[in-house]
Parts: sequence; structure tokens; C-alpha cells
Amino acid sequence: MSGIQLKNVSKYYEEGESKVIALDHVSLTVEPGEFVAIIGPSGSGKSTFLSIAGALLQASEGEVILNGTKIAGQTQKELSRIRLKEIGFILQTSNLVPYLTVLDQLLLVKKMSGKVKTADRIFAQDLLKDLGLGKKLQKFPDQLSGGERQRTAIARAFVNDPDIILADEPTASLDTHRAHEVVQLIAKEVKARNKAAIMVTHDERMLTYCDRVYHMEDGKLSPVPHTPAHA
Ligand SMILES: Nc1ncnc2c1ncn2[C@@H]1O[C@H](COP(=O)(O)OP(=O)(O)O)[C@@H](O)[C@H]1O
Ligand SMILES: [Mg+2]
Repeated sequence: MSGIQLKNVSKYYEEGESKVIALDHVSLTVEPGEFVAIIGPSGSGKSTFLSIAGALLQASEGEVILNGTKIAGQTQKELSRIRLKEIGFILQTSNLVPYLTVLDQLLLVKKMSGKVKTADRIFAQDLLKDLGLGKKLQKFPDQLSGGERQRTAIARAFVNDPDIILADEPTASLDTHRAHEVVQLIAKEVKARNKAAIMVTHDERMLTYCDRVYHMEDGKLSPVPHTPAHA
């Protein structure tokens, strides 16, 4: 089965004598083409959840299955491959490389996973055009607006054509107008390219672009009644 499956996942952090329960028996399935949002207060476990869903962090208990592959028991090498090829991460700040052009930011990711072919270059260019960056291919990050930088980061997350997209507060550094633009674009790409996507956000205004919404509190996940705007 493709997409993301978390079954009864818990995460404990040991803090000296005490134990922090960051995730408490969380289950969630996200299928290809679905855009799921998680909201909740600071410290409720949202980033821990995304790190586990992105194979960056091991669960203490429970099962994580990404694209049909069980994460538990995989070698570090295989986990790196999964993170590089099967998952696209979008973070709070765009984390672009200052001395690379917009197009080269994407080609660098391609290079890390093999040789860059002409088809890869065309794919990257098309992706950037799709995200409204067609005229910015040769610009450097400091020549872009905050919204353009974050759109470049979205393109970079999609460039290996991963099946899974994970976004942690992707609009935190943007004004309202750019925040809408960015999340709308993530939603558009998730639908057009049939990705399984999870976005963590503080911003309730962004939920309208998502198919399902969950609330995280004290490490527990519960569904929130929600009508998607495009339904
Ligand atoms: N590496 C860590 N070591 C110990 N405790 C952590 C660590 N990371 C997160 N926590 C704790 O786990 C809980 C959830 O944190 P986090 O997942 O970052 O929440 P959120 O992203 O919702 O703000 C918090 O109580 C936090 O202090
Ligand atoms: Mg967080």
C-alpha cells in the first residue's frame, strides 16, 4: 500500500528521571492525493510526529509504514534512501543554499541521488514554472521575496517526485497573502501529482486547502470536523 501509515505510534523522551510522552498512541493513514493538516499548541508533539513520519526519528512504540515499507528494522543506508527518494520535506524557513540559483537548488537534490540528465533538468524547470518561478530560474535566494523562496523550497521538495510530502509550519515566516499562496500551491501540486501530504500549521486560515484536519494535544491526535473548500 502506498502513502503513509502510522499505527499506534508513541514516542517517549527520557529527561533524567522523568519521561516526556511526546506522542501517545497516534494512528493516521494518508493516501496518495490526500492533503492532511495537523494543528495544535506548541509542545503538543507535532514536529515529533512529522519527524517520525519522515523516518528522521524512530518511534518508541508502534508501526510506521511508508509506501508499503516498514521503517522499523531498516538500515541507516536504506532510511537515507527513503528520505531522499520517497519523501519531500518543506520546513518553516526555506533553507536554500545562498550561492546556488533557483534552478541549481533543485538540481543539487537530483545530483545527490544520481547523475543529472536532461529530463531531470526539464522536470525541474517545469516544476518551477508550475510554482510561478519561471522567470526566476537564474536568481539567487537573496534576490527573491520570502514567498518566492518558500515556493522554491516547495519545488525542491517535489523534485525527486517523492510519494510523500511533509511540511512543518511552511507559512510561519510569511505574511497572510503569501501564506495563502504557498499553501494553495502545495495543495495544487499534491493533487496534480498524487502525493500523500501532511502539513503541520498554527494557522487555521490554511486549513481550507486541506482534505482532513487533526488536532494534536499532549501527544494525542483527534479528528476535527472539516469541510474542504474545494469539495
Ligand atoms: N529531543 C527532545 N528531547 C526531549 N524532549 C523533547 C525533544 N523534542 C521534543 N521534546 C518534547 O516533546 C514534546 C513535543 O515537542 P514537539 O514535537 O517539538 O512539539 P510541537 O512541534 O508541537 O511544538 C515537548 O514537550 C518537547 O519539549
Ligand atoms: Mg514544532
